Amino acid sequence: MARFTSIALSMACAIGYVFASSGDMTYYAPGLGSCGETSNESDAVVALAPGQFSGSNPCGKKITITAKGKTASATVVDKCPGCSEDSIDVSPSVFEKLASLDDGRVKIEWEFS
Ligand SMILES: *[C@@H]1O[C@H](CO)[C@@H](O)[C@H](O)[C@H]1NC(C)=O
Repeated sequence: MARFTSIALSMACAIGYVFASSGDMTYYAPGLGSCGETSNESDAVVALAPGQFSGSNPCGKKITITAKGKTASATVVDKCPGCSEDSIDVSPSVFEKLASLDDGRVKIEWEFS
C-alpha cells in the first residue's frame, strides 16, 4: 500500500512537471529583451526565469498561462533575473487578461503551448 502510494505520487509529479509549471506572475515594462526583440506594454510577451534558459533557448516560444480559470498566451522575449524557478514576468496587457494590475503578483500555472 505504501509502495503503491509512492508510485502514484511520483506519477502525479511527473505528469504535473510535463503539463504545467506553477509559480507567481508579476508584470514589467517590456523594452529590449535578452532575446533581442523590442516589445512594448501592449505586446503579449513574457520573461522567464533564468533556469528556463539553461540548456534550451525558449526565445520566441509561446506559453499558455492559466489563473483563476482564465487563460492567456504570451511569447517569450526576455529573461527575468529576479524570477524564481517557474515564476514569470509578463507585459501589462497579458497580466490584465488574468488579473487586475492592482494585484501585482498572482499564482499561476503555465506551459509551453
Ligand atoms: C507595440 O509594438 C507593436 C509591434 O510589436 C506595434 O504594432 C504597436 O503599435 C506598439 N504599441 C505601442 C503603444 O507602441
